[in-house]
Amino acid sequence: DRFYLGLETQTQKRRLTSTISAIKAQAGNNTVSKAKENKTFQVIQEERREQAERSVLISCPPKFNENKFLDYLSKHGTINKHFFYSSYGTYAVVEFSSEESISSLKESTNLPAVEHEAAVPFKSRLLSLKWPGNQMNNQPMPTFQEQSPPSIGDISQLLSEKDSIDEQLQCLTEALQLTEENINLRFLVCSLLGDIAGAYFPECIIRPFGSTVNGFGKLGCDVDMILDLDGIYATSQKKGSGLSLEYQVKRGASERAVTQSILSVIGKCVDQFGPGCVGVQNILQARCPLVRFSHQPSGFQCDLTANNRVAMKSSELLFIYGQLDPRVRHLVFSVRYWARVHSITSSIPGAWITNFSLTVLVVFFLQQRSPPILPTLDRLTELAGPSDKCVIEGNDCTIVSDLSKITLQKNTDTSAKLLQEFFEFYGNFPFNKASINIRKGKEQTKPETTALYIQNPFETTLNVSKNVNATQLERFVKLCQESAWLFQKSEILNRSSSQSAETVSPWGFSALLLPSVTSGAGMKSRRKRKLEPASSRIKTLLDSLKIKGGETVAKKGSA
Ligand code: CTP
Ligand code: MG
Repeated sequence: DRFYLGLETQTQKRRLTSTISAIKAQAGNNTVSKAKENKTFQVIQEERREQAERSVLISCPPKFNENKFLDYLSKHGTINKHFFYSSYGTYAVVEFSSEESISSLKESTNLPAVEHEAAVPFKSRLLSLKWPGNQMNNQPMPTFQEQSPPSIGDISQLLSEKDSIDEQLQCLTEALQLTEENINLRFLVCSLLGDIAGAYFPECIIRPFGSTVNGFGKLGCDVDMILDLDGIYATSQKKGSGLSLEYQVKRGASERAVTQSILSVIGKCVDQFGPGCVGVQNILQARCPLVRFSHQPSGFQCDLTANNRVAMKSSELLFIYGQLDPRVRHLVFSVRYWARVHSITSSIPGAWITNFSLTVLVVFFLQQRSPPILPTLDRLTELAGPSDKCVIEGNDCTIVSDLSKITLQKNTDTSAKLLQEFFEFYGNFPFNKASINIRKGKEQTKPETTALYIQNPFETTLNVSKNVNATQLERFVKLCQESAWLFQKSEILNRSSSQSAETVSPWGFSALLLPSVTSGAGMKSRRKRKLEPASSRIKTLLDSLKIKGGETVAKKGSA
């Protein structure tokens, strides 16, 4: 019961209990890392893509009978897998074992009879289940798979149950990571979008990249997509007589102009014909032109780009690093979460550090351990086989795909120790003169005067964190220093056995999530920082830790 402090009503307690058991159940069945151990990144992505092509997304009425529903669909073929989720209504994802089932299902599906308006007759794999009104009552509800991350209050309750910081970091990772079902849904949304783009470019494929596939995705994160036209550019073998045919095509002024033109047309099509796609924005002037929209039935915010193969390769690189040692994901999830709670990162683009930059910072830090926990990118290139060769726009993006070729050095540091050292490392890093380079695994002289310089792993003349200004970097550094300092306090490190049931203070990782006294975002706190001597800041911080557990953290979450 001591975990429920601050929760007033029985209803709140019940809700929390059910959330926590759902998170625990999920943690057991998730698997980005487990089930797929021996498969390469490409093979995993291809399998998921192929499953999505055989799947449909069905909006269900508030009451219906699961078995009857499945029986009805089974007339079109064997169902491999299905699950339900709730997002402004109930939805079912149903995966058939054969793609023919989809054609059969579509043949027996009708366009809706629309009154007062008119329907765009675009037949997609987003369907609605019609259930006879007289059969609605007394149907047991199916189990829903959670698609949103737990609240910060729930997280801190979960963490307080653990016995060590290591367990906390593992628990955080398991509670936040994408579930198998959520990844399936992401691939399905890409596949549905692919049907729209395929109306113009039948050979195209829409592939997810970024945190959907790199192993560091948190429930609720955006879906980054690439419109992959490589299949179209594949050349046919010339034979014999020397004669050949070529397609007549329109030409654009540059690759970029062609990408912009394709994206603008597909954006328009998604806007006007794409069921469930709303709020379509063309952001074509960005360095990497994109179409942004929300896909309502899944609740995903989507960013569709084109001609962006390097980004796919950097997703693969991060995936590989995440697979090599479980501590990598524990550290990345905890640093990303810590940064988000303290507004070091934001969902709005701006001068702040991004999750991608943070992840590269963690990788670099792990390359610096002695002995190193992660190999350099150069090493991953050396280990590559002939089939791994990959050059994109003049950049060598070759990395080993067979993870069994990588030998790791024996480093037995705990995740907790590494997290503490991460904060110490970046709390003292010479950002003013050094740049971060994971290719060499060494810091290098900064080639330009931007606040934070993190070399892009593949496009080596680019800085991943060009957007970050000095103020935001300073906030990050200060917060690292503060967290490193907190990590040395025994009242933070240990789950105190002497605590009575009424006063469970946040300890371990939870304590690092409490409001910071030094790194506030606004002017007010900056002024305060200058006036206050360090000793009184530290006192405030310690006082804030003595406030009752869940409440303090939960308040910050709802702010
Ligand atoms: N990317 C890049 N250079 C940047 C920013 C992004 O190459 N300066 C690439 C990376 O491959 C990154 C992907 O674009 O993984 C998607 O970017 P973003 O959505 O910002 O990062 P995610 O890793 O997807 O993290 P998040 O959960 O915040 O979406
Ligand atoms: Mg993303």
